Amino acid sequence: MSSHSSHIKKVTTHQLREMKGRGEKISMLTAYDFSMAKILDAAGVDVLLVGDSASNVMAGHETTLPITLDQMIYHASSVVRAVERALIIVDMPFGSYQGNSSEALRSAIRIMKESGAHAIKLEGGLEVKESIIRILSAGVPVMGHLGLIPQSIYKFGTYAVRAQDKQEADKLVEDAIMLEQIGCFGLVLEKIPAELGKTVAEAVSIPVIGIGAGPYLDGQVLVSHDMLGISTEFNPRFLRRYAELNTVISDAVRHYIRDVKAKDFPTIQESY
Ligand code: KIV
Repeated sequence: MSSHSSHIKKVTTHQLREMKGRGEKISMLTAYDFSMAKILDAAGVDVLLVGDSASNVMAGHETTLPITLDQMIYHASSVVRAVERALIIVDMPFGSYQGNSSEALRSAIRIMKESGAHAIKLEGGLEVKESIIRILSAGVPVMGHLGLIPQSIYKFGTYAVRAQDKQEADKLVEDAIMLEQIGCFGLVLEKIPAELGKTVAEAVSIPVIGIGAGPYLDGQVLVSHDMLGISTEFNPRFLRRYAELNTVISDAVRHYIRDVKAKDFPTIQESY
């Protein structure tokens, strides 16, 4: 049997840990709808994140704060219907878990029950420890998210690289170790120095997935609309564009408009 995860029928949190163990990097992308999720899953991506970045790329909001629990469940259930292989993780939206641990548990259960997803992700360390413990106690797998945590953008005031000073870097390492100890199955690190990412990935045995956190982590995640070049306004250093779908779509639409105006579409053969 191959030691590469492409033979896996359904990716699980346990398999992600095994992939870290054997040094196989984990691929993760965001998905918010049925059609795109089907393409990404068929291409073999290991993990699909129904990110609250849906607030930005799907709904056009400036931040991730406005998206609601109902909207996240709608996106997640659309993705679940499309996917055969990838592990599906859903972001808990802002306001659905910070209040208290009972509310956090209720929100996590709604996501799992109503969408059929496999796990949830939430942002923060010590501040949300009680909520994470409560969610884990119900048997819901939890992924942590440290570094740049976009739901706290108004506290940071900027999307600049996080944890560049020793105090914040030390807290991040402590939080990562705590998240592993309480039972999180994995961790996302966003926009931190590469060396700090390396320190964290070596300090914990759960998989650490990075976005703008350097090459030394156990896997990488990007927002699909960014890496496919559908959205073009967002150009951070960490983003590699693998396609220019904006141009492909716009050329196709111009061609269609030309054909309609020229009475070239539809032909008799394309009619009933
Ligand atoms: O919502 C999202 O897309 C995310 C990724 C940036 C990790 O949380």
